[in-house]
Order: sequence, then C-alpha cells, then structure tokens
Amino acid sequence: MTVHTVGVMPKARFLSKFADSLADGTFVRLVLPGDPKITARLVELKGVPHLSLTFHHATKDVTKNIPISEAVGWVEKHFAGGVCSALLGTTQRDWQLTPKGLVSHRPAVTTAPPRSHDQPKQMLLDDSARDWLDGLGVSRPAMADKRRQIERYMEILSHLLKETPVERLADMGCGKGYLTFGAWHLFHRIWQKPVRITGVEARPELVEAANKLARKIGAVGLEFVAGTIQSVALPPLDALIALHACDTATDDAIRRGIESKAKLIVVAPCCHKEVRRQWSHPEPLGAVLQHGIMEERLAEWATDGLRALHLEAAGYRTKLFEFVSGDHTPKNLMLAAIRTGKPGKPGQLIRFREFFGIKHHALD
Ligand SMILES: C[S@@+](CC[C@H](N)C(=O)[O-])C[C@H]1O[C@@H](n2cnc3c(N)ncnc32)[C@H](O)[C@@H]1O
Repeated sequence: MTVHTVGVMPKARFLSKFADSLADGTFVRLVLPGDPKITARLVELKGVPHLSLTFHHATKDVTKNIPISEAVGWVEKHFAGGVCSALLGTTQRDWQLTPKGLVSHRPAVTTAPPRSHDQPKQMLLDDSARDWLDGLGVSRPAMADKRRQIERYMEILSHLLKETPVERLADMGCGKGYLTFGAWHLFHRIWQKPVRITGVEARPELVEAANKLARKIGAVGLEFVAGTIQSVALPPLDALIALHACDTATDDAIRRGIESKAKLIVVAPCCHKEVRRQWSHPEPLGAVLQHGIMEERLAEWATDGLRALHLEAAGYRTKLFEFVSGDHTPKNLMLAAIRTGKPGKPGQLIRFREFFGIKHHALD
C-alpha cells in the first residue's frame, strides 16, 4: 500500500509542478530517461507555444511538437507506461522524480531559455556553469580562449560519449581541473548522470584548490587526487581524458587507459621529446630535418602517429583531428580512441618504428 502511494503521489505532484511551470513561464526543460531518452523544451510555432519533444535514438534524433495545451496529458500518458523517472527544470527549482519519490534541487538554470523554434546550437557553458568558471577564473575576458577550449572539448566528449555509456572517468594531469569540471558539468548538470569523475594531478596545491572548489559548489561525484599518472591508485576506468599532459605523461595516460580497458581514451598531446632524442634521419628526409622547426613538426607527427598505431594494436579504433583552431593553441591535435576489443596489426607499428629508427617508446 505504501509503495503504491509512493508510486502515484510523486507522479501527480511532478505533473502539477510541470503544469505550473508551463503556466507561469518558469519552465526550462523536461528530461524523460529511457530508450529512447526524451528531452523537451518550449518553442513558439506561428506564435503558439508548443512543447518540442526530441526522441534521442541511437543513430538519430526525432522531434515531435505538441501544443502546450496537450503537454501535461502527453507526459501523464507517458507515465502510464510505468515510467517513474523524470527531471523537470524550472527557473525556480529543479524537480527529480525517482522510484523513491520526488526530490527538489536548486535550479541549474535561473533564466528561461529562448523559445524560438530554430534554437541556436546548445551552449554547454551557460549560466549554470558560472560557479566553477568563476572559481577557476575562466569568466574573465582574458581567459576567453581557455573557455572556448573547455567548451570545445566538452562538445567533442559529448559526441563521443553518446554511443559509449560510462560510469567512471579520469582526467590525467588535470592541472587546475578545467576539463575535469567541464566533464563533471556535462554529466551531472547537463545529462543528470551520476558518473564518478576523478582529476589526477602531480601538484598537490592544485589538487587542494580544485577539491576546495568542488566542495564549494557542491559537486557530488567529483574529486581530485594527488599523484602521478603512472602510479596513482585508481579503480577501473570507463573513460580517460588528458589534455596537454607533458611529454610522455600523455603516453602514461594512454597506457593507464589501455590497462584499464577503458572504452574511451581522449588525449590532446603536449610536447614531444622522446622520439626526437633517438630517431635517425632516413634518407631523403635528412636534408630537410636539419631545420629545427621541420624536425620538431615531424617529431610531433611521428609521435602522435605512433600513439595511434599503439592504440590500434591494443584494440582501439582511433581518430586524429584538430580540436580547436591553431589560433588558440598550437597544441591542437586530438587523439580519440574507442575500444573495439579487436587488436589491429602490430606489423604496421613495427615497420613505422623501423623506418624512423625508434628503438624505445613510452608505450612499449
Ligand atoms: C600543461 S598542464 C595541463 C593541465 C590541464 N590538463 C589543462 O589542460 O588545463 C599539464 C599538467 O599535467 C601535470 N602533470 C605532468 N606530468 C604528470 C604526471 N606524470 N602525473 C600527474 N600529473 C602530471 C602537470 O603538473 C600540469 O599540471
């Protein structure tokens, strides 16, 4: 009997909060988990408010618009199928319906989004990210490039993670935690997913400051640990990211990801010294490589190519691409690897190394 009450009353209260938010203009969004997941926003079509429902299927999104007068009835019908999880975002409170009841949280967003039908591309770093962006000093105009980099990285992660569900992610060599907070924001505040996020950093003072900020903003599921990428103790990871971890720290991060059988490894390498120290200059490259800048660029090219080949040999499908414009940072190459479990051909890796005379590599 009690179970029945818990199942019915919270749904009715949730529907009433939903109806109120539509009536008083405080509605922000509705999320209905499931397969497909459904998200909803308000749009004006020919001057008439509609609830725009997006059904997120594995390969495509399908949109259906219903007049606002039918919105509550539609959700009620959806609930009749036994669903008992939903999230309602309003500018006053957020309401989360769970099998245990209805919980309210501080609102993630305090201003209603625009109601135009042709919604501009979703801003991942909107008002709801202000607390941690301010805390990290990224709201200042002088940090605009950093902010763009974080948002771009989040955008890439969001695409990669759409098809790769994860429960635990680590950011290796996280520094102040720009991306760690970004990943946490994506999972917890945008997707409402309780993914555990860990930032690993060698400098304890950065770890302390990042943990302090995480506590200040109430970032549940986010923690920073002091240690080295090579040796820090971590539980098995589903996803591993590393942005500009210096020199072979990127390789250490990749190795931890492979050892952990992470489904997703995303790195943006930093400097490249290891290969350059030992490689030969095979003819006819030697004449060109006497120019320092050319040697530096080829060393970067060879190192990142080698990383991709190592990952493929370990059972990953890899993509190499520029993730931000070279105007923001010259270190703009990104390597994304998705685990397939089917090891590639080691022969390619061996021949590549032989050609350049690379005898040892951090990923060996
Ligand atoms: C260039 S910063 C990048 C920080 C951060 N990923 C970002 O993009 O803002 C590189 C960071 O990696 C850390 N680091 C380098 N090698 C490391 C290692 N082996 N273990 C842990 N942290 C490391 C450094 O202390 C530094 O904070």
